[in-house]
Amino acid sequence: MTLTVREAAWARIAELAGRPGAGAIRALFEADPQRFERFHRQAVGILLDFSKTSVDAAALEGLLGLAQACDVLPRRDAMAAGEEINTTERRAVLHMALRAPRGAGYRARLPSGETEDASASVDETLAAMKRFTRAIHRGEIRGATGETFTDVINIGIGGSDLGPYMIGRALWNARSPMRPLYLANADAHNWEAIRPRLNPHRTLVLIASKTFTTAETMANARIVRGWLEQNLGEVGARRHLVALSTNQEATAAFGVAPERVFGFHDWVGGRFSLWSAIGLSIALSCGWTAFSQLLAGARAMDEHFLTAPPEQNLPLLLALLTVWHVNGLGLRSQAILPYDHRLSRFPAHLQQLEMESLGKSVTLEGHPVGRETGPVIFGEPGTNAQHSFMQLLHQGTTPVPADFVLVANPDHPFAENHRLLLSNGLAQAEALLRGRTPAEVEAEMAKAGTAPEEIARLLPHRLFPGDRPSTTLLLDKLDPHSLGALVALYEHKVFCLGALWDIDAFDQWGVELGKKLATSILPELAPEGTPGNHDPSTGGLIARIRELQAA
Ligand code: F6P
Repeated sequence: MTLTVREAAWARIAELAGRPGAGAIRALFEADPQRFERFHRQAVGILLDFSKTSVDAAALEGLLGLAQACDVLPRRDAMAAGEEINTTERRAVLHMALRAPRGAGYRARLPSGETEDASASVDETLAAMKRFTRAIHRGEIRGATGETFTDVINIGIGGSDLGPYMIGRALWNARSPMRPLYLANADAHNWEAIRPRLNPHRTLVLIASKTFTTAETMANARIVRGWLEQNLGEVGARRHLVALSTNQEATAAFGVAPERVFGFHDWVGGRFSLWSAIGLSIALSCGWTAFSQLLAGARAMDEHFLTAPPEQNLPLLLALLTVWHVNGLGLRSQAILPYDHRLSRFPAHLQQLEMESLGKSVTLEGHPVGRETGPVIFGEPGTNAQHSFMQLLHQGTTPVPADFVLVANPDHPFAENHRLLLSNGLAQAEALLRGRTPAEVEAEMAKAGTAPEEIARLLPHRLFPGDRPSTTLLLDKLDPHSLGALVALYEHKVFCLGALWDIDAFDQWGVELGKKLATSILPELAPEGTPGNHDPSTGGLIARIRELQAA
């Protein structure tokens, strides 16, 4: 049977990963002391070290061959050309246009079939956001009772929360112009926890929702609008409301003045939207300069992604490492470990970016993919992670590839603390690689005066297998520019994986069923509701909840 080029390239990956000792890493370092030099790359201020993975020259060649066989770069060019690469939703994918100047070449298709410069309307929105941000900061736009706005609350969920929240956490400091708060969860305990910290006279409320129909966001928006109305009256409340959305009809119906609506287009996916009007909370809380530098950093990564040769292309390499781990070595999860507390929401952002994009099991043509796709993404900032789940990464039964993000220079004066932080990040990656042999454990325990029978008893528990893969991303400083580049790097990684696996990385049909069922269960939970037709477990739980609530 003749294999297609693509099948042959996948077969080559299986063959490479099937070589005896293909997962070993220490042996690669022993054989090649120059391995770090050979297996790290640098672009846009980010150093990517993948020498602590088991990818060797042959594997890298095979992986780059796979990228070529899967047309990753032509597909990238189709995305940049505004083609409807999100085929199941018949949409273009043009988030790169959000950070590109007018005339950069991103064309969006109009309903008439004509095309327009996608960055032109982006420019207009950015100009309006900038005017608004500056007017708020200068006190030219004030609240209903004439007070300046000091706090901004962003009501949104998923991509309308995670990206802005993550960036706000990373860039906000005590000198920033406004205090940001984020309200996402439908659970009103979230609002109850935030409310005491807010003064309605000084709070600007952003309702961030691409569709302006998301149940959780609209429920929270109604609660917060009610709070404003109670304190400022109906007319006063409107002076505090802003909408970030593509759905102008719905924003008007909700009572947001048209000049307070900042829009964007359907070619911006929710999880790629922080660069659009959805990022207004970033501009308000961290300042316009920070927001525009963030866009510039992402733009620099876009240019790298669009022009760098495959063997130097950071997003493509990061994607190929995932293929190696997931498809080659059968490793189904991925840890994200930023050793910078400002990036504490980065793993959560990547969870949506990667898992909503890559949690698919059919190809663009609708056939079973036939191989594993997106891994489970999880993470915490270091060093917290070390005291939480790192045990499993070191001694659990299955290796978990980890991405370490290290920042060389902090923005605080506590140099000793920063050295402590970095030493831990480096040590974790080194420990995963190196492990600890029986001879090392025995020698250490004997030196500490441990009796031989005690050494024998504890030896198996104190061994570390080693040869566990990790990748390190090293930044000089964490600033808006480098953060923009880092986030865009992962966005493009996700694109590449979509192309490699031949799946639609830009739809999210998998979230629909749960939303639909919740809509039908909702009335059943009301006191006058009648039980519907459910599986016995769900039906039993609904009945028990009703009993507990009635008691
Ligand atoms: O979870 C599904 C989803 O559509 C995400 O893709 C999106 O980021 C989120 O809901 C919020 O959507 P919206 O911005 O339309 O409220």
